[in-house]
Amino acid sequence: MKVATHHLRCTECTTVIGKDEVSSNFRCPLCNGLYEVVYSWTNAAAGPDSRLPNPSALRWLWQERRSSTMPVDQSGVWRFRDLLPIVDDLEKVITLREGNTPLYDLPRCAKAAGIDWLLAKHQGMNPTGSFKDTGMTAALSVASQRGFEWVACASTGNTSAAMAAYAARAGLRSIVFIPEGKIAWGKLSQSMDYGALTIQLKTDFDGCVKILGELVKQFPIYLLNSVNPYRLEGQKTPAFELVEQMEWQVPEHVIVPGGNLANSSALAKGFAEMRELGLIPRTPKISIIQAEGANPLYRSLQENGGESLTPVVANTRATAIRIGNPASWRKAVNALRTTGGWCDQVSEQEIALAKAEIGAEGVGCEPASAVTLAGLKKLVAQGKISTEERVVLILTGHTLKDSAYTIDYHRNELFSDAEKAQLSPGEQLQHAALRKPPIVLDADPSLVLRTLESHMHQPQPA
Ligand code: F0G
Repeated sequence: MKVATHHLRCTECTTVIGKDEVSSNFRCPLCNGLYEVVYSWTNAAAGPDSRLPNPSALRWLWQERRSSTMPVDQSGVWRFRDLLPIVDDLEKVITLREGNTPLYDLPRCAKAAGIDWLLAKHQGMNPTGSFKDTGMTAALSVASQRGFEWVACASTGNTSAAMAAYAARAGLRSIVFIPEGKIAWGKLSQSMDYGALTIQLKTDFDGCVKILGELVKQFPIYLLNSVNPYRLEGQKTPAFELVEQMEWQVPEHVIVPGGNLANSSALAKGFAEMRELGLIPRTPKISIIQAEGANPLYRSLQENGGESLTPVVANTRATAIRIGNPASWRKAVNALRTTGGWCDQVSEQEIALAKAEIGAEGVGCEPASAVTLAGLKKLVAQGKISTEERVVLILTGHTLKDSAYTIDYHRNELFSDAEKAQLSPGEQLQHAALRKPPIVLDADPSLVLRTLESHMHQPQPA
């Protein structure tokens, strides 16, 4: 007889079901809530699980696996498999060697934000260029081992890129629903390159989710949006990796962008599990930053303390988080409450400035990721983060995901004249110092030399 390694628990009414009892839309039939994966050791009442190695053995094992040549050990998700026993056959997991992403220090961004030092966990350094890979390796492995032929998601571009890649590796067929004209080209090109059936719907992300919700009720398609709790099991692992990279020190703050609002709770789950197992003594405060034009969580917290959420019509150039009706908002409210973090919103100009500042450190990220630095500046200014506290920004996507945005910014074509007029003289100077538009010249050596000379006399930003 096989012993169940995990169960699913509704995050709202707490009903626990077996892993095979979940419906195709991953919603609780009693209250429409979303599920989370639970293990015997995530239930404090059950006491410590003697089958799990102790914290120091786990730390040793996870490091040791990095030097193994087995794909499952080289993956920065599956080397933590002791804390996500969700597949039956480890030899058949679908992996592109995701995870193991770098932790960079950003000294100039720290200075811009007014704190002593700042780190960025760059999830854009995953195989398809976003944090979604850590979730897809987990959920696609489950889909493949449960015998599904088709998988699908609605997406602002990164989920679809990741799903298409992992489905292709698994030999499964994938369907992508994306909002027409509202996603970055790099992301659209990925889902085509990886062979997905790509459907551009004449609606926004929220409209795509609605259509897909109808479809999964009628066809045997495995849903891979972040309502799928197995994705979040993969997405919790960067929390493990982060503290491992900090030699098991816990930062005071972790800041994430907020879109469909699943990642914040995935990371919160990772930190909570480590604390329960004695791997870390406390959890960091997780703060969520939204774009002003796509701020339903921020509004909900301002208006009613996160008790209810009114969807908004979303509009931001950070297309990854252009979401007005986020599926996992209750989970996000819970992550804020349990960790003690904050939610704030940032303007389009603040996002653009922060993105350029991260780029100027030689790191770079896509616009949605830059909300973290823009939000950090606000939290510092409000006295919620103090200068000596350790802060980690989660950079969710690679800069090449949306090169059109970057080029428009540097050519000073991103904003309308009316938007530019709203900037103070000081802000205009900040943007001007960061903007590096390409210089088009005739192929004349003396002209090139004169141009270079004029630039050499300009001071290098501190
Ligand atoms: N950053 C990037 C680069 C994203 O692609 C997303 C979400 C988020 C942040 C927000 O994460 O939804 O967990 O709050 N992108 C989804 C997609 C919705 O379809 O690719 P979240």
